[in-house]
Amino acid sequence: MPAIVLLGAQWGDEGKGKATDILGDKVKYVVRYQGGNNAGHTVVIGDQKYALHLLPSGILTPSCIPVIGNGVVIDPAVLLEEIRGLNERGVDTSNLKISTNAHLITPYHRTIDKVSERFLGKSKIGTTGRGIGPAYADKINRIGIRVQDLFDPSILRQKIEGAFRDKNQVLIKVFNRKGIEVDDVLKEYLEYAEILRPYVVDTSLLLNQALEKGEIVLLEGSQGTLLDVDHGTYPFVTSSNPTAGGASTGSGIGPTKITRVIGILKAYTTRVGSGPFPTELFDEDGEKLRSIGGEVGVTTGRARRCGWFDAPIARYAVRINGLTDFFLTKLDVLTGWEKIPVCVAYEIDGKRVEELPASQSDFHHAKPIYEYLPGWSEDISQAKTFADLPVNAQNYIKFLEEISGAPMSAIGVGPGRDQTIVVKEFI
Ligand code: GDP
Ligand code: IMO
Ligand code: MG
Repeated sequence: MPAIVLLGAQWGDEGKGKATDILGDKVKYVVRYQGGNNAGHTVVIGDQKYALHLLPSGILTPSCIPVIGNGVVIDPAVLLEEIRGLNERGVDTSNLKISTNAHLITPYHRTIDKVSERFLGKSKIGTTGRGIGPAYADKINRIGIRVQDLFDPSILRQKIEGAFRDKNQVLIKVFNRKGIEVDDVLKEYLEYAEILRPYVVDTSLLLNQALEKGEIVLLEGSQGTLLDVDHGTYPFVTSSNPTAGGASTGSGIGPTKITRVIGILKAYTTRVGSGPFPTELFDEDGEKLRSIGGEVGVTTGRARRCGWFDAPIARYAVRINGLTDFFLTKLDVLTGWEKIPVCVAYEIDGKRVEELPASQSDFHHAKPIYEYLPGWSEDISQAKTFADLPVNAQNYIKFLEEISGAPMSAIGVGPGRDQTIVVKEFI
């Protein structure tokens, strides 16, 4: 049976949490494959709202086994807090599986993330300050600390000492901060070891055995295509691969096992943090999208930048990820506009450009070329089928589908579990 990837097609916050949750009872495993607690995935079940940062959204479906894959960076303090918070609300987390190979975020990573952003001043990336970039930097630099290191105190000491030797010099001499005490971190992380031990397994083996038995594995991306360190708007990106290739490396499942890649796509565009954003609005329309769409970050509480739908981005997401389907979210937010602009191409240095430019500087001054679609004023939040939608909303979806290059297989008309129109079943 297949592995299915579900990922962000834009700059994150497209509604991946809700989309994952809807598929929860049809799959056996839900796996986070990259990122860390920079993510904030919202799931609304009845009158209950959950914000998940490190735990896969499948944790809210009792029949589902949630997995934190090797590609994730884990801040153990945050993970344990998240587990505790869910347990207090009656959610069982005992099924959780954590990869032995996932890397750990330490206090150093958090500190360096914050101070280096401060040093960048106006050129800052606008990170979430959770230590994500510095933890991935250590991983690539081969001095990272992995989950499995927690269970051998002498190795853990060696690794922390090795990793902190030059870092403390940087903290003290470059950034004028206090150094971090190896003994304090060692003590704290050995305490985490005991609590985390029951969850830790070889998740790649577990998932591949499950696939062989015919079970379905859902790989839940965090962030989005344009925040990908290879394919996004570098350097204004996160430090991992949210795109489809990352699902394979971040879970230990071979790409031939993945049969479907679903891109979660907002009916307009948002972005948090710095970096280019051609359709960004600085007027009352932007303000209206922000307030109707509730566009405030789940992790940092920052107001999200808002703009119109950008088709070159959607086409790019199809190309980079090999998307088989889109799940179009937040269509309800567009109710009430007389005309809805859709960016179909860019103007760059006086020329019409259909695709995302290969040069980042070109993207920085790309101007959107809009087509204007007639809007609708009817409340669509209770629509159950495509035919229930006003004809202009149907035409908006059809237009997006045509210019984006993949079918809109599901449409979100509200945050709730049942506020979804399924055009074509994913599973
Ligand atoms: P994620 O990071 O991709 O999981 O997305 P976030 O949870 O950060 O942001 C998406 C927000 O939109 C959340 O508040 C969701 O509850 C909400 N949401 C998801 N789908 C829909 C939808 O179709 N309509 C509306 N109005 N809200 C939605
Ligand atoms: P979900 O999974 C939106 C952004 C940050 C910043 C950049 C780098 O909820 O969609 P980082 O802390 O990762 O080094 O920050 O990436 N960013 C997100 N934006 N949604 C997210 O996650 C994000 N995670 C990181 O705002 O611009
Ligand atoms: Mg989010």
